[in-house]
Amino acid sequence: MAIWVLLFHLVTVALVLLSPTTANLEGDALFALRQAVKDPNSVLQSWDPTLVDPCTWFHVTCDGDNRVTRLDLGNANLSGSLVPELGKLERLQYLELYMNNLMGSLPKQLGGLKSLVSLDLYHNNFSGTIPPSLSNLSNLKFLRLNRNRLTGRIPRELTKLQSLKILDVSNNDLCGTFPTSGSFSQLSEESFKNNPRLEGPELMGFVRYDSTRGSCK
Ligand SMILES: *[C@@H]1O[C@H](CO)[C@@H](O)[C@H](O)[C@H]1NC(C)=O
Ligand SMILES: *[C@@H]1O[C@H](CO)[C@@H](O)[C@H](O)[C@H]1NC(C)=O
Ligand SMILES: *[C@@H]1O[C@H](CO)[C@@H](O)[C@H](O)[C@H]1NC(C)=O
Repeated sequence: MAIWVLLFHLVTVALVLLSPTTANLEGDALFALRQAVKDPNSVLQSWDPTLVDPCTWFHVTCDGDNRVTRLDLGNANLSGSLVPELGKLERLQYLELYMNNLMGSLPKQLGGLKSLVSLDLYHNNFSGTIPPSLSNLSNLKFLRLNRNRLTGRIPRELTKLQSLKILDVSNNDLCGTFPTSGSFSQLSEESFKNNPRLEGPELMGFVRYDSTRGSCK
């Protein structure tokens, strides 16, 4: 009798250990987002956390290893805020959340998205500062944060984003001066317009970045 009880428990433990949901880290990260946002148009209805992986969910694209590479949720009428768990999507290349009504701050964990090519968060209601951790995104080509309520200085570290082709931080409430070194030397002033407290360009060699130009109170 006891041996059957023991076997039963062993099988149960094995099933729990092998169960797909325990290995579904990326699905869990996306499901945390689903729980943090209001979704009046039910665009996230197919996001079922009991599935093996999130690759069959609408607006999610995976690669051949069933790892998430795209999240396409632009213009989806989402409100609420982002979650730090998103930073776990190591193969994510496109994070498209533009034209929603998302608010709150940009999680510094977004700096963990080491495959990211495009970060499109424009036309939302994000506040707080631009996380310096975004400078870890060495593949980033497109960084569009325009039309939010972002404040603070533009992190100087972002100039080391060697792949950066397009930056748009216009229509926010940024302050200080904007850097012109590194990848920023290719950008036009259009990238920075309509930030009433932002002055610049930074004058290399003459004015220190942290000078009093551009009130940052
Ligand atoms: C967005 O959601 C709101 C409810 O929160 C609804 O009234 C509105 O019609 C939706 N807009 C679109 C374009 O679906
Ligand atoms: C960014 O990289 C630095 C080192 O290069 C590391 O200390 C930091 O934790 C990283 N940040 C994120 C959010 O990945
Ligand atoms: C933006 O967020 C603020 C709170 O941070 C809120 O008071 C405001 O109503 C939001 N704007 C819109 C258009 O939802």
